[in-house]
Amino acid sequence: MNILILGAGGREHALAWKISQSTECEQLFVAPGNAGTSLVATNLPDLGNSFDEAGKKQIADFIRENDIQLLIVGPEAPLVAGITDYLKQLDDLKDLAIVGPGQDGAELEGSKDFAKAFMEKHKIPTAASKTFTKDTLEEGMSFLRSRKLPIVLKADGLAAGKGVIISPSYEEAEETLKEMLVDAKFGNASHKVVIEDYLQGIELSVFVLTDGKDYVILPEAKDYKRIGEQDSGPNTGGMGAVSPVPFADQNFLDKVEERIVKPTIEGLQKDNIDYRGFIFIGLMNVNGDPYVIEYNVRMGDPETQVVIPRIENDLLPILLAAARQNLSTVQLQLSQDIATTVVMVSEGYPGAYAKGKKISGFDAVDSAQVFHAGTKAKDDQVLTNGGRVLAITGKGKSIQEALQNSYQAVEKIQWEGLYYRKDIGQDLMAL
Ligand code: AMP
Ligand code: GLY
Repeated sequence: MNILILGAGGREHALAWKISQSTECEQLFVAPGNAGTSLVATNLPDLGNSFDEAGKKQIADFIRENDIQLLIVGPEAPLVAGITDYLKQLDDLKDLAIVGPGQDGAELEGSKDFAKAFMEKHKIPTAASKTFTKDTLEEGMSFLRSRKLPIVLKADGLAAGKGVIISPSYEEAEETLKEMLVDAKFGNASHKVVIEDYLQGIELSVFVLTDGKDYVILPEAKDYKRIGEQDSGPNTGGMGAVSPVPFADQNFLDKVEERIVKPTIEGLQKDNIDYRGFIFIGLMNVNGDPYVIEYNVRMGDPETQVVIPRIENDLLPILLAAARQNLSTVQLQLSQDIATTVVMVSEGYPGAYAKGKKISGFDAVDSAQVFHAGTKAKDDQVLTNGGRVLAITGKGKSIQEALQNSYQAVEKIQWEGLYYRKDIGQDLMAL
């Protein structure tokens, strides 16, 4: 079978790496891809860079011309832009198997207000909240003052992970609310703002693959969002991840399934949302009880780089089953190994950074799997091409062993100005 993956990050390299091992996989394409995906698939550098009408049409044409039977959408942007709906309404592509929801399901990530209303309607535990617009700014100000500190303000739309502000004082929160609603701090994304209570606890993420009726729960993971050690400095896309998460014992995961996963899937059905794809549930463990912080309509990055290596099944039939509404037949086989990934980034990230630095040392790596994110192949060399450059996944019988395998490999790779956190997983070992 011929398969197309949309995306260019570490998540897509991990998916392509796994799918390429399937006996059913004939031709595998990644659009646009990176230097890592080109090791296991054919890159399409001119495809998957835009999702306006012309971009969507290009994708449809490629699918037709190359007899693609399965499309896997990696990031959220094409989903929010409606790539699934676009392809499904084309007569000759309506039976194409697609992993990734339509625009209605993608609203779970594309609009925080939509996600909060969905959770409220389906009684899914989450922080109490209210949504405000420019016209209701004054109500928003008094709502703020009526809640405890700190208080959380979230831009409604996609804001590249920057749209959440946690305010320690009412004055700062009021100022932020004004900036978001009146001064359009996050452009159109902050045209609505969700104000919600702060949840105190430890974060983790649970990943679900659903066909709209049935679901499988994939391994959970914890990621490390801040750039600096001991969780200091600004937020990033993710600096490392660990799976499984030691404090997520069976009792806790049972609560997640009963209180969150089941009502989410049932809620989608009740709301007539035909959702086939991944759901990434960001959770806060508050004294042993799970609360939803956010939904994403895709896998996490770098969480995928620890989740996928723990799945022992051939992933391709499972993805097909999700797209074709056959998931009830699937049994996941998970490795008991721990997987850790350490993300190596460009100097300056998450601020401005240079690109085009030559990366060396790949050949010396023997203890871990290297997943590429912001990389580009040029004349037999691999160059940096983004903020997050590589994710190095090690496995082991303990977190210590997995981390040792990750870091041993990290130390062999070089480029000018690289940075990584040395404390990934340390908090979990201390538990
Ligand atoms: P989000 O974009 O919704 O994932 O939010 C980004 C980050 O802000 C989360 O990963 C949390 O660390 C934090 N956060 C979001 N909402 C809350 C909340 N209600 N309470 C505490 N922390 C939160
Ligand atoms: N690592 C967080 C995300 O993928 O959104």
